[in-house]
Amino acid sequence: MPRPPPSPPTPPLFFVLTTVVFLILVAATVSEDSDPESDCTNKWIHIRHLPPQFNLHLLTNCSQYPLFDDFCPYLSNHGLGQKTHNNSHSWYRTDPFMLELIFHRRMLEYPCLTSDPNLADAVYIPYYAGIDSLKYLFGPEINSSFNHGLDLFHYLVHVDSPSIWRNYQGHDHFLVMARPAWDFSQPLSNDPPIFGTSFLELPEFFNVTALTVESRAYPWQEKAIPYPTSFHPPNLAYLESWINRIRKSRRSTLMLFAAGGGISANPNIRRSIRLECDNSTNLNADATGYAKFCEFVDCSNGVCEHDPIMVMKPMLQASFCLQPPGDTPTRRSTFDGILAGCIPVFFEDLSAKKQYGWHLPEEEYSEFSVFIAKEDVVFKGLKIVDVLMSIPRTEVRRMRDKLLEMMPRIMYRKHGSSLGLRSKKDAFDVAVEGTLQRIKSRIQEFAYQ
Ligand SMILES: *[C@@H]1O[C@H](CO)[C@@H](O)[C@H](O)[C@H]1NC(C)=O
Ligand SMILES: *[C@@H]1O[C@H](CO)[C@@H](O)[C@H](O)[C@H]1NC(C)=O
Ligand SMILES: *[C@@H]1O[C@H](CO)[C@@H](O)[C@H](O)[C@H]1NC(C)=O
Ligand SMILES: *[C@@H]1O[C@H](CO)[C@@H](O)[C@H](O)[C@H]1NC(C)=O
Ligand SMILES: *[C@@H]1O[C@H](CO)[C@@H](O)[C@H](O)[C@H]1NC(C)=O
Repeated sequence: MPRPPPSPPTPPLFFVLTTVVFLILVAATVSEDSDPESDCTNKWIHIRHLPPQFNLHLLTNCSQYPLFDDFCPYLSNHGLGQKTHNNSHSWYRTDPFMLELIFHRRMLEYPCLTSDPNLADAVYIPYYAGIDSLKYLFGPEINSSFNHGLDLFHYLVHVDSPSIWRNYQGHDHFLVMARPAWDFSQPLSNDPPIFGTSFLELPEFFNVTALTVESRAYPWQEKAIPYPTSFHPPNLAYLESWINRIRKSRRSTLMLFAAGGGISANPNIRRSIRLECDNSTNLNADATGYAKFCEFVDCSNGVCEHDPIMVMKPMLQASFCLQPPGDTPTRRSTFDGILAGCIPVFFEDLSAKKQYGWHLPEEEYSEFSVFIAKEDVVFKGLKIVDVLMSIPRTEVRRMRDKLLEMMPRIMYRKHGSSLGLRSKKDAFDVAVEGTLQRIKSRIQEFAYQ
């Protein structure tokens, strides 16, 4: 993903200190905050104690990665980033790579925490894996990326109460790694490494469940969970008013493609979409009910990444959002689109169907999304406009209703949100539920070996 050149360093200490103070305060008050009615059977989670070198200290260098954007501004609000404007309640300039912080903060208010690891059904490692990987991906340790994770392993297994690991040899442990799993799947034999660390290739971590934003084609220990979008409502009223807005929004564009980058010379799905989109202005949309067939939102140079309005507005006005693979099969844009009630059009199964099974069940894809094989578009001249125009209006409406029903499951609500909103499962809740189930079955397997 191309990033703008680094901006001048800003002192990150303020952000880090406020984060530290908040985390400590939250940790101290969280038990009173939990809902006494909730039944915690099979849901107990223990948070492993980690020294700050594995999480908070990593944030202090947020402006110092030469090939990576200064990410200090995105640390605020526990990783949600800054609000889009002063009186915004739900919208933030969220960087998806901050999911490790967002998840950590939410974990601290999880209602079934236990300080006794022996009572826990799962053990959370509050390690900022993706942020720690930056020094290997873009920093001075680029030639020792096979070391990523070894310090952590040493600490978990040999330094801090080794019995916690030994209980299930790590099968009950989980962590969040807020980048595509490819970035952590460098074969140990590649020397010097090409791109990525070897964290997921280390036998030391084979037993641990890793929550990533994208999994490999043949995932082993990782499971994909949604990229965070910019929408983090603090209560039910804000969620409901957004849903109303999506429902009422007039969809005057048939399909929308928001992406960066120019048209490449080689045939690929993004190129075909751009050509078809540019060309569609010649088609006559009168009598179709749409003002135009296709809109392209140019997100070159990362201009849309921290400015949700740039993509959300046009997405609200489109019936379908095209979600072709890019450098990797998945896109954050898929979740922005769902949030806007814009029906996703996928061109390969690895873009979502084979990824986010906990949040968007595989068997329901035909009810809320469209699939068009990329080969048919690129090599067989199939026109996307023709496919989408052939879907009856009533069907389009039905798909959008289904999408709205599923939408709360893919957003990360704001930490400390009201009880009413907590009664709706969000992406965090669904991820924790899936993790607990997965760990339960792993432990059973392990016990009978
Ligand atoms: C931050 O960067 C400095 C040098 O730029 C390095 O000495 C220090 O170890 C880094 N800290 C962390 C936590 O990575
Ligand atoms: C937003 O709030 C900050 C501090 O409260 C203030 O300095 C800034 O001027 C405000 N910005 C706008 C556009 O109102
Ligand atoms: C990494 O290794 C390559 C090739 O051996 C070398 O050119 C480069 O300078 C090394 N980079 C660092 C940061 O040590
Ligand atoms: C992972 O689990 C297997 C048993 O399922 C065990 O033999 C192995 O030692 C464990 N690995 C680590 C690093 O604990
Ligand atoms: C562009 O439009 C013309 C006329 O409608 C059509 O013949 C041609 O195949 C289109 N090209 C692409 C790349 O869609």
